[in-house]
Amino acid sequence: MKTVTAQDFAQMERRYRANLINSVTGLKQVHLLGTVNEGGQANLAVVNSVFHVGANPALLGVVFRPPRAENTTLANIRRDKEYTLNNILPGFYKQAHQASAAYEPNVSEFKACGLTPIYYEGISAPFVAESTIQIALCVSQELPLEVNGTTIIIGKITGISINKDIIAEDGYVDQHAAGSITVAGLDSYFTNEPLGRLPYTKE
Ligand SMILES: Cc1cc2nc3c(=O)[nH]c(=O)nc-3n(C[C@H](O)[C@H](O)[C@H](O)COP(=O)(O)O)c2cc1C
Repeated sequence: MKTVTAQDFAQMERRYRANLINSVTGLKQVHLLGTVNEGGQANLAVVNSVFHVGANPALLGVVFRPPRAENTTLANIRRDKEYTLNNILPGFYKQAHQASAAYEPNVSEFKACGLTPIYYEGISAPFVAESTIQIALCVSQELPLEVNGTTIIIGKITGISINKDIIAEDGYVDQHAAGSITVAGLDSYFTNEPLGRLPYTKE
């Protein structure tokens, strides 16, 4: 086994350290996050930090990097309050990855990456038409983290659009049937293989 300590982190080349820390915990869900800018233009970002906060009310969190001048996603969320999370499938993972590039704020990642925006009544933020699971959220709480300048946005799910074949009778969403992919680190994508569903545990 190779041992790496916190002291070693300080000596590491920046990209090496980022790859190590981003991938060491394993596979994560990955989404395209849709927002709209002031001029009504659709924007996309790739996020791998979506986490469950609660089911009632239905809340999800996303961690945002410290904002840079060119980052439009967090600014759009703060202004518009609405955003969407869309799963990524093998057929368009390369286009989805491209949406993480630092495009100028006036460039729509949908157009630049060859993905299709779709809008539903009453929701300002765009969804990804190619996705099989589309989630609409509105901001419930913003948590600035002093420890490293990142920001957690807690969003309330206001709607889910999903193929009915993907939801089981008990409400379980079948991510294998949905075709959702996962990611390790920031560049290594995986398809998913189910092992099985287990019954609720009892003593
Ligand atoms: C696989 C992957 C996962 C990412 N996850 C996040 C994330 O969870 N939070 C974040 O702020 N940026 C994340 N990024 C970087 C953003 O996608 C990138 O900064 C993007 O340009 C932000 O969009 P914006 O410029 O429109 O704000 C990720 C990038 C990749 C490739």
